[in-house]
Amino acid sequence: MKTALITGVTGQDGSFLSEFLLEKGYEVHGIIRRSSVEFRPRIAHLEGNPHFHLHYGDLSDSISLVSVIGKVRPDEIYNLAAQSHVQVSFEVPEYTADVVATGVLRVLEAVRICGLTDSCRIYQASTSELYGKVEEVPQSEKTPFHPYSPYAVAKQYGYWIVKEYREAYGMYCCSGILFNHESERRGETFVTRKITLAAARIAQGKQEKLLLGNLSAKRDWGYAKDYVECMWLMLQQEKPDDYVIATGEQHTVREFCELAFRYAGIGLEFKGTGEQEVGIDKATGKTMIEVSPEFYRPTDVVDLWGDPSKSKRELGWNPTKTPFEELVKIMVEHDMKQVAGECR
Ligand code: NAP
Ligand code: GDD
Repeated sequence: MKTALITGVTGQDGSFLSEFLLEKGYEVHGIIRRSSVEFRPRIAHLEGNPHFHLHYGDLSDSISLVSVIGKVRPDEIYNLAAQSHVQVSFEVPEYTADVVATGVLRVLEAVRICGLTDSCRIYQASTSELYGKVEEVPQSEKTPFHPYSPYAVAKQYGYWIVKEYREAYGMYCCSGILFNHESERRGETFVTRKITLAAARIAQGKQEKLLLGNLSAKRDWGYAKDYVECMWLMLQQEKPDDYVIATGEQHTVREFCELAFRYAGIGLEFKGTGEQEVGIDKATGKTMIEVSPEFYRPTDVVDLWGDPSKSKRELGWNPTKTPFEELVKIMVEHDMKQVAGECR
């Protein structure tokens, strides 16, 4: 039986990956932070499973990482923990750098200090945000990086330090350059979930309007549940390498809105441009979506589109297992039920 340690176990990806590894027969350990609220909704259903174990720790605290890694002695580490919100990284840039950049170094050093250099395989949650102000479309493993936020710059350090430890110490460590992946467990301030929850609330008369930022931003959106399989596949190869994980399809925020509202029973039509653009209910003429500069970023990444050829070829992964339309449907159906149980 293999042992895996997941940092960021309470997050969207950490929860799906825990389920995936438990199904594969792993002993799964996760690092959690102490919080004033002890309920962890995404993994509550796993707590109590005898093969699922939680340990307190923090990516900003080397001692806790050495202590947990030394105790668990994992065969595989999945480093998913991060201050993962791009817009928030402009507000807390130093903290973001500490956790998202130096945190990766702390994990790698903890593995060395614990004498696991040759035995422990490490997955680093890298990101399409590295391409930032994109230098080509679509983006592959060969596309130059141009990070465009404090978060992306910190992730760039994580990417290079993983490569450095692979080359300097022969460690089996990989970066998965994952494009946006969403789900019914997505944090509520990321744009997709913000839209599906709002569509559900507006359809049920519990919200008047949705305020959004840049409607023209384009993303390559996949389903998070499919993407965690790639994290595992990267650690099962003969040699460590870095891979782009994406669907190879691109949509705007505006298109996501149209589809999500359609699944919620509202036909949307967009009118106007820039800050004057509005999304209108075609049946009633009522404004459902408005643009608010509050959600603009000092620098925004607007053209992410991944080329998954290498992961298809070398990992044998199917990038469109869950097509875009299906992803939006899963999220809206989930949120229609969730919202129906909410008080007004
Ligand atoms: P998420 O839902 O925001 O989860 C982040 C996780 O990191 C949570 O478990 C959080 O714990 C934990 N965390 C934050 N700061 C920490 C710290 N200082 N010490 C320990 N744990 C800490 O993120 P996600 O969407 O699952 O993404 C997983 C990883 O993939 C992240 O590294 C993200 O940057 C990266 N990524 C995500 C995407 C995507 O589209 N989802 C794409 C590319 C890369 P709490 O619950 O205590 O806050
Ligand atoms: N969050 C948010 N809220 N984004 C908005 C809004 C809004 O109201 N309106 C428009 N957007 C635009 C953003 O400007 C951005 O261009 C796009 O929607 C996607 O924003 P997010 O959903 O916040 O995700 P992200 O692409 O910035 O970052 C996510 O994906 C990265 C991979 O590319 C995060 O999961 C990162 O952790 C991840 O690395």
